[in-house]
This record gives sequence, C-alpha cells and structure tokens, in this order.
Amino acid sequence: MSKIDSATAEELARLKRERDAVVLAHYYVAPEVQAIADYVGDSFALAKLAVSLPQRTLVIAGVQFMGESMKLLNPKKTVLLPEPGADCPMAHMATRDTVEAARAAYGDDLAVVCYVNSTIEVKSWSDVCVTSSNAVKVVRALPQTHILFIPDRNLGRYVAEQVPEKHVLLNDGCCPFHAAIAAREVAELKRAHPQAPVLAHPECTQDVLELADCIGSTAELIAYAQESSADELIVVTMDGVAAEIDRRCGGAKRLFFVDESSCPEMDKITLASVVACLRDGTGEVASPAPEVAERAAATLERMLACAGR
Ligand code: 13P
Ligand code: SF4
Repeated sequence: MSKIDSATAEELARLKRERDAVVLAHYYVAPEVQAIADYVGDSFALAKLAVSLPQRTLVIAGVQFMGESMKLLNPKKTVLLPEPGADCPMAHMATRDTVEAARAAYGDDLAVVCYVNSTIEVKSWSDVCVTSSNAVKVVRALPQTHILFIPDRNLGRYVAEQVPEKHVLLNDGCCPFHAAIAAREVAELKRAHPQAPVLAHPECTQDVLELADCIGSTAELIAYAQESSADELIVVTMDGVAAEIDRRCGGAKRLFFVDESSCPEMDKITLASVVACLRDGTGEVASPAPEVAERAAATLERMLACAGR
C-alpha cells in the first residue's frame, strides 16, 4: 500500500472539504493515486457512483472519456480531470460514416452499441453504451438482431461469441496496449507458471483470450484473483490492477504481467496533478453542446437502466 506524507494527506482533506469534492480513481492509475482516492473502481462502477454521490465536485483520476461520462451524467456538477490531456486513443476510433452505413443497411433492426471508451460524439451517434463488465448483458437484452459494436473490435468480437443469436458488425478500433499483448508472451508465462490461472481483459485479441481461465473487466479480474485459491496468477491487462489485488489479498498473491503492460495515458495522472487540480480548480470538463450532450447522456442512461444502477 502506497503511503503519502501527512502534510499531503492534510492538504488533500482540506481541499476536498473546501470544494465539497470526492476523488474517484480507475484501477489503472498509479498506486499512490488509488491510495488517496475515496473510491476506486472499473468504468461501470465509477459511472454508477457518479449518479449517486452527493458532493458538488467530482475529481476523476482517469482518462478523458471517464470525466466526460461523469459530466454527461451530472451536468450540474463540477467535474475535474487532474490530467485533461490523458486520453484513451480507442475513444476516437469510430466514424460517423460507419454508423450511418450500418443504419442505412439494417434500418430499425440495428442497434449501435458503443463501448464507454468513446468520445461524447461517438456516444451521441449510438443507441446504448456498455462497459466491459456489462456488454454481454446489455447486447443480449437488446430487441434488435443486428448490432454495430464501436469502437473496440476485440470487445465486440468477444460479445459476439457470447451472444451468438445476434449478428454483430465489428469496427476497426482497439486499445493499442491490450492489442499489442502477444499470445506467445502469455504462453511463455504459462510455461513458467503452469499452476497459475490466466486472467484477461476482453480488449485483448482472440488468441490471447483463448489462453484465459477468466475473461472480464478490471473489477471482475480483481474479484477472481481475490477469490481464487491460487497463490500465483497471470494477469493479462494493465498492471494498475495489481494495487487493488495486493490490497485485497494482503500482498499474498504473486502476480505476473507481460512486459510493457501499463497504460501510458493512465500513467499521466499523478498525485501532484490530483492535488493541483483540487487546489486550482483546473482541468474542468466543459459542458458539451446541448443537443450532443442530450443524445450522449441518453446512451449512458440506457446502459444504467439495463445493467443496473
Ligand atoms: P474496465 O471497464 O474494465 O475498467 O476497463 C476500462 C479500460 O480502459 C480497459 O482498458
Ligand atoms: Fe484506453 Fe487502453 Fe488505456 Fe484502457 S488501457 S484507457 S483502452 S488506452
């Protein structure tokens, strides 16, 4: 567990009081940032929390789309991003032309499903949003037969496998960091640690997921690690999740990650940037244009209605 000095802890507590603020962090951010957060979670947990918290100011220790989602769900609150330049590249990997072509081809029997890792514009073109922890459930519940899944082709393909009754159209986007993980590297870890179960995020490629014992969102992988009797685990996602697994298991599990498994965008968020944004009120997420905001918020609201608040 990362420790912070008492002066920083006191400054944070005072700034949070003054701004009536709460800090929400994603499992991928640095351990010292997770340690000072009021809540740490996966994308779905953070979205659900955002609509239930009483504080006036939400500080989102995560990437741009996370802050934008919080603002869409809480238009009256102040949402601060400690590093507004920290941006998930996959969030931009879908075009309006792709969406319009699918709508023209399938009409009312098509639902456009967008992963929460997407810009406000991408959400505004879509019918419903999903996260990696509820994508299968939400897609299965949709009345339409044809699904355009944007932007992530890997999560889309995984959902298509789980919901074979749907015809899923894939889009050519991906997380460059999950997609870069080679099955060969995972197989090497398995050879070195044959007893260790393999936990993988569905943003990984199909050949990697074929080696996995558990496929799930960051929260689901962490829960699996906590409940598993294994004392060694191969974790195929970004290594930020190690902090929470260590916290829950008292550091008792040995975790193995492939090389280079951290998200450089999440890594931009530092303890100093959290303190600075609370002190100076910087990194405020602007209110999007009303018509775009209304449509994008509706896709998030439909997800919460379907997957549970
Ligand atoms: P989770 O929804 O599993 O937290 O993942 C978000 C993400 O960005 C994965 O790369
Ligand atoms: Fe985006 Fe990949 Fe980072 Fe997740 S790990 S925030 S998908 S770049």
